[in-house]
Amino acid sequence: MSLLGDLLHRSRLLSKLGALFSRSFDREIQSVAAGQSHYWKRVASPTQSSPLLRRNIHRLEKGLSMPDGKPVFAEDYIEETVEQYQKCCESDLCSNERQWAKDVLIQYFKKVQDTPVITTARARFQGGEGGNMVPYARATVPLSKISYEELLILCQQRRSVRWFKQEPVDVERIRRAIDLASLAPSACNRQPFQFFISDKPDVATDIARLAMGTKGFAENIPCLIAVVGDLSYYAEYRDRHIIYIDGSLAAMQLMLALETLGLSSCPINWPDIEKREAKMAKRLKLAAHQRVIMLVAIGKADPSGMIPYSQKKSHQQLMKPIE
Ligand SMILES: Cc1cc2nc3c(=O)[nH]c(=O)nc-3n(C[C@H](O)[C@H](O)[C@H](O)COP(=O)(O)O)c2cc1C
Repeated sequence: MSLLGDLLHRSRLLSKLGALFSRSFDREIQSVAAGQSHYWKRVASPTQSSPLLRRNIHRLEKGLSMPDGKPVFAEDYIEETVEQYQKCCESDLCSNERQWAKDVLIQYFKKVQDTPVITTARARFQGGEGGNMVPYARATVPLSKISYEELLILCQQRRSVRWFKQEPVDVERIRRAIDLASLAPSACNRQPFQFFISDKPDVATDIARLAMGTKGFAENIPCLIAVVGDLSYYAEYRDRHIIYIDGSLAAMQLMLALETLGLSSCPINWPDIEKREAKMAKRLKLAAHQRVIMLVAIGKADPSGMIPYSQKKSHQQLMKPIE
């Protein structure tokens, strides 16, 4: 097998053939294609959240935040943005998302100089009064009083906990942790993920058993989240990995937030194995463009439960100067 691997990695065509014959990539490839197809359906009839609007409004707010803002920008996408905004106004788009889009568009049209394209888009956009979901100066941001040492203690406190008290988990705390997780950075602010949750221990156990790394502790998980990525936020192949990055950044914030609320957690690897994927997709009722990124077991830590030491690498090991 290693001889074959050695041969296949020598050329792109051979590696591609290897991947084609292995079938291991089938679901991933199909999910990316399903995501692209669904993306265009969402552009045509947006509901709840619009991938195109989120991306373009973010590009506009970045333009508006430049120190020496250009008098003319976004000409290549302002028309499609206004058109999408209008479609969203007729749909059940989340009101916060719509308000943010409206506020940013109002500010954009206030600041930008007219060109034929911008004049047409301006005439089409009927914004009305703007609100405060617009770029603001860093100096106005309230600063945290958390020191490095305090954050270090929180990070040391957050360990993968696999032994939980057999007590119900207060879902209100999870909601608060998700509010904090939602503040994590995401590419173009698309936030292409959802947290599927069950606080029923039997459901948590069933789902945890679908993963591979839960032998011996799946049975004592009181609450479980599946972080699910949504590939319908992307029209391009180049963006196919973003769900994993954005979902993981949010999951990290979620786990730290949980610790501050008295709940511990253990991230659980979700392997891309067809049989398991099929079972999970059925259990969570996933569409083809939705992919599980990881599971997170949650509960109150059993104080007598053991924690693996899990030695961490030093900064010397982790840092590599760029030459
Ligand atoms: C993506 C990911 C997948 C993981 N999968 C599992 C798993 O399947 N089973 C498990 O017991 N722990 C799992 N863990 C927890 C790791 O074993 C743990 O994070 C690592 O050993 C470091 O320990 P710490 O989290 O206590 O710092 C996973 C962690 C991550 C980030």
